[in-house]
Amino acid sequence: MTEKHYLDKLNMLLEHIEDPKQKQHYFRLISTLLEKGYFPGLAEVPIVKSSISHIDGEKGLLTYRGYPVEELASNCSFEVVSYLILNGDLPLEAEEEKLRGKLLDNIYIPDDVATLICNFNRKLHPMNMLSAAVLLLEAHDKGSADVDNHFENLSRSIKLIAKIPTIIGTFLTGNPQFNRGKQFKTFAEYALFCFNPKLANDSDYVKMFEESLILHMDHTMNNSTFSARAVGSAKAGIYALISTAINSLSGPLHGGANERVVQTLEKIGSAAQVPVHLENSLEHHQKIMGVGHRIYKTYDPRAKYFKEFILPKIFGDPEQVKNENPPLWNLYDTAIAMEKYVQERLGKKNLYPNVDFWSGLFYKALGVPTEYFTTIFAMARSVGWLAHWMEQQESAGKIYRPYQLYAGFDTRHIVK
Ligand code: COA
Repeated sequence: MTEKHYLDKLNMLLEHIEDPKQKQHYFRLISTLLEKGYFPGLAEVPIVKSSISHIDGEKGLLTYRGYPVEELASNCSFEVVSYLILNGDLPLEAEEEKLRGKLLDNIYIPDDVATLICNFNRKLHPMNMLSAAVLLLEAHDKGSADVDNHFENLSRSIKLIAKIPTIIGTFLTGNPQFNRGKQFKTFAEYALFCFNPKLANDSDYVKMFEESLILHMDHTMNNSTFSARAVGSAKAGIYALISTAINSLSGPLHGGANERVVQTLEKIGSAAQVPVHLENSLEHHQKIMGVGHRIYKTYDPRAKYFKEFILPKIFGDPEQVKNENPPLWNLYDTAIAMEKYVQERLGKKNLYPNVDFWSGLFYKALGVPTEYFTTIFAMARSVGWLAHWMEQQESAGKIYRPYQLYAGFDTRHIVK
């Protein structure tokens, strides 16, 4: 078949689809299938119908249940946005308070789990620690094997979201009692306390931290959400599912990029060294961490929010930061140079900084150790993972079981 015939045939097949965007999407999918026989990285393959979040990659738009993420971050609390994501609509004030109460009533972890966390090898990466600790909680929740009751699932989800900051703080401080008896007004204050008790007294920092959590809460069918859904589709319980999602998120191509961005900035050393370093990386076909995205073809709106609304509150007075914390200023200065260089060099390939490019600088300014950055991402994204899990349990979903093209030996036999 000539190329023209092939295109005509495809267009004829898709004739009945009116939405031009959808038509283009199916066109690309069919072309990929005909060309390769499978879908590398499942790119563009629709695997589920979901109403939790939406990305328009051309416009740089991210919405949760229809609301743009920037509006939610600047106007709402962690509790309001969690309620929205988990339940589908914004809460009344009393519902927000009820959720806040339930979260703050469930922050402590069982003593044996706290002791085990403190006895973990200190060399364990905090993301692996978090994944293991979440699994340990299962022993205290025997009813969790039953995943078919929505109200139980919702209640269990809230209790698990509540515990994640305490798990992280227990490992970070090595003290199982580190937050016992403390009174917190909000989830964001409690969560920031687990990383920096001093800053948790500063309402401006609590607000910024809350915004950063909201920006990370959900992001359509990303790798960790897909992993969570895959485990959930086998009817495994909440602890197995979240533990798996944390492992996926830890990867450098996913949430683990935030840690690598700051490591890269430290390695580059100064703004002047940016061009040499980046050219060297590109020459060796190394990915630049914190750059690029499967869906965004323009600036990631979460990265934009960090850059325009959060970081200026910290770096807005250069002289002050330079005097008080020269290494932090140097990182920021290097990041600005790197962003400019990346946009000039890679913008034509639609590669822009993503959320992980800027978030690490914020966590650094909070005094969070670099290897803990992705745990903050996980504590926020747990809300999205659990909303997806509940959505999945309620739709008559099938177990995830895709197909492979076998490329190995024909049947062969042991020769005796
Ligand atoms: N640095 C340099 N080049 C990059 C790049 C990066 N960070 N990300 C993508 N590219 C290039 C690829 O080399 C490829 O170029 P080619 O077509 O000339 O071969 C092209 O862009 C497509 O990249 P690909 O890896 O196929 O895109 P993807 O959709 O599969 O991957 C990411 C998306 C996010 C995994 C990828 O951009 C990446 O690895 N980024 C760095 C890690 C990161 O920041 N992850 C956090 C995401 S929020």
